[in-house]
Amino acid sequence: MPKMIIHDYEIPCKGVQKKILYHFSDLHLSMADELSSDAERQAAERNTASWREGRKHFARSTGEPCDEEQLIEAEAHFENLMQKAQEDGDALLIAGDLFDHVTGADIRWFEKRFSHLAIPYLLACGNHENPTKIPDNCALARIKQPVQTLDLGDLVIMTFENSQRVITKVQIDALMSQLTQGKPIIIAMHIPIQAEHNKAHKALDEYFRLNHAECSEETKEFVKILYANTDKIVAVLAGHLHFLNVCELTPGLTQYVSSQGLLGNINRYIIGE
Ligand SMILES: [Fe+2]
Ligand SMILES: [Fe+2]
Repeated sequence: MPKMIIHDYEIPCKGVQKKILYHFSDLHLSMADELSSDAERQAAERNTASWREGRKHFARSTGEPCDEEQLIEAEAHFENLMQKAQEDGDALLIAGDLFDHVTGADIRWFEKRFSHLAIPYLLACGNHENPTKIPDNCALARIKQPVQTLDLGDLVIMTFENSQRVITKVQIDALMSQLTQGKPIIIAMHIPIQAEHNKAHKALDEYFRLNHAECSEETKEFVKILYANTDKIVAVLAGHLHFLNVCELTPGLTQYVSSQGLLGNINRYIIGE
C-alpha cells in the first residue's frame, strides 16, 4: 500500500451540515498512451523522471517527510488519493498542477479517468496546465472557465482560475453575485494569497504569490473582498507551494495550502456543525 499523509482540519461552520472535503494538488502527471508519438512518450518519461527528483528537492528544502515508501510513481499516488477521497468524502478539490504540461494523452486520460467518480469534484487550473493547449470540446476544458461552482446545498465551493496570478472583473462579479446569495463559500484556486505576517510566505518570491507586487487592481480588489467577507467566506484552499502551509490571512479567514500530491499528501477537512 503506498504511503499517504493525511492532514486533518476541522472548520466549524454554522448552518452547514457536517461534510468531509478532501483537497490535494501538484501531482504533475505526464501521461502517454497508444496514440502518443515516440517524441511525446519520451517527453512524458523525461518529465516524470524530473519530478521524481523535483519532489525530493521541495521536501528537503522545507523539512517535510520524503521516505522510500513515498517515492512511488505520481500516478500511483494519484490513484491512492482518489480512492481515499471517494471512500468517505462528500467532495474533492484538486487545486491545480494535476498535469505537468497538458498533452493529448493527458486530455484523453482525464476524459476516461474522471468520467465516473463517486463524488463531486472541482479541478482548479494550475500554472502548469496551459489553458491555450486545451481545446474547448474536451472534458478538461472545464478548468479554463474563470469560475467553477460546486453547490453542496448549504455550502458552495468556488474555483477561481488564477494560474497566471491574475484575477479578472468577470471573476469578481461572480464572487459578488454568489456573496449576495448568503451561503457560506469556500474559495479554491491554485496560486495562494500571501500574508506579510507569515514567516514562510515572506521567504517566497513573487512567483508564489497571487497578490504579488505587480499584481492587477482587480487582483488586489479580489483579496480585499475576501478579507471583508469573513462572515461568509469559510476558508481559502490552494496549492502551488509544494509544502504544507496553514495561515490566518486576516482574523476569521484561514488559507490552507496543500503539500505535494507527488509525495502522497492530502488534506481532509471536516466542515460544518
Ligand atoms: Fe506544482
Ligand atoms: Fe504551480
